[in-house]
Amino acid sequence: MENSKSENQPQPKILIVYHSQSGRTLSMAEYVLKGVQTETSEVRFLHAHNATLDDLIWCDGVIFGTPENFGMFSGMIKDFFERTYHKAREMELHKPYCLFVTCRSSGEGAERDISKVTTGIGMKRALAPVIANANPLETTDFEKAQELGATFAAGVGIQIF
Ligand SMILES: Cc1cc2nc3c(=O)[nH]c(=O)nc-3n(C[C@H](O)[C@H](O)[C@H](O)COP(=O)(O)O)c2cc1C
Repeated sequence: MENSKSENQPQPKILIVYHSQSGRTLSMAEYVLKGVQTETSEVRFLHAHNATLDDLIWCDGVIFGTPENFGMFSGMIKDFFERTYHKAREMELHKPYCLFVTCRSSGEGAERDISKVTTGIGMKRALAPVIANANPLETTDFEKAQELGATFAAGVGIQIF
C-alpha cells in the first residue's frame, strides 16, 4: 500500500507481533497492518513464533496482538517475551508499544499481564489498547484496528511517544 511519506522522509520501523489460534486476532492484525502501511513501508508483520530479539532491536515501535486465553495473553506471545526479555532489558530497548486483544469478555487479564512484562523491559505504552470481544468481530473493530496501526505508526514517525 502507498504511504503518505515521500521516499526521502525517514520512515518509522514498525514491528507487529501477533498470535492467533482460530483467526480472530489475525483478522484484526491484518487491519492494523493496513493502518501502519498508510504511514510507512518499513513494517515487519510476524507471528509471535517467528519474531526474535533482532526484530525488537530493528524496530522503532511494536504493536502486539493477542487473544485472551485463560485470562492472560496467549502462550505464544509469552514465548516471545521469554526468548527476548532479558536481552531487551539489558539493551534498554525502551520502545513505544501498543496492543490489541481479541476475547469474549473484557480482555483485562491479557492487558494487565502484558503490561507487567513490558513495564519490566521498560517499554512505553503509547496508546490505549483496542479490545475486540464481539462474535463475530464487527466492522467497527476492524476500523479501530486500522486506526490503531495508523495512529501508532504516525506517532512513532514524529517521535511523540
Ligand atoms: C483455550 C481458550 C481459552 C480462552 N480463554 C478466554 C478468556 O479467558 N477470556 C476471554 O475473554 N476469552 C477467552 N477465550 C476466547 C478467545 O480469547 C477468543 O475467541 C479470541 O478472539 C480467539 O482469538 P484467535 O482466533 O485469534 O485465537 C479463550 C479461547 C480459548 C481457545
